[in-house]
Amino acid sequence: MKPTGTLTWLPDGQQQPAYTELTMLSHAMNVDRDHPQACGGHSECGTCRVRIVSGAVSPVFPDERLLMEDFPGSFRPGERLACQVRPVGDVVVEVSIDEIQDLRD
Ligand code: FES
Repeated sequence: MKPTGTLTWLPDGQQQPAYTELTMLSHAMNVDRDHPQACGGHSECGTCRVRIVSGAVSPVFPDERLLMEDFPGSFRPGERLACQVRPVGDVVVEVSIDEIQDLRD
């Protein structure tokens, strides 16, 4: 794999190479970030949500869209599932400092 840009995590500003082949959650795991996830990356819990601050990312996948449609009030503008979304070039993402509710609860 060849990086296509830089992935920057807010609020701490940690940076790492961005790979289009990997989800944001996989990126987080690769650098041992303690990123929330409660369903193993199956688009079921919503706890991995991140807000895309800037940069291009992959389109919304069908499973991700289903969760967004089932819980329309639970996604802030620009929020995506880290277990589904992939960076395309330089991307800045924000992780909520508040605990994110498991949508299955
Ligand atoms: S880890 Fe559960 S929706 Fe992403």
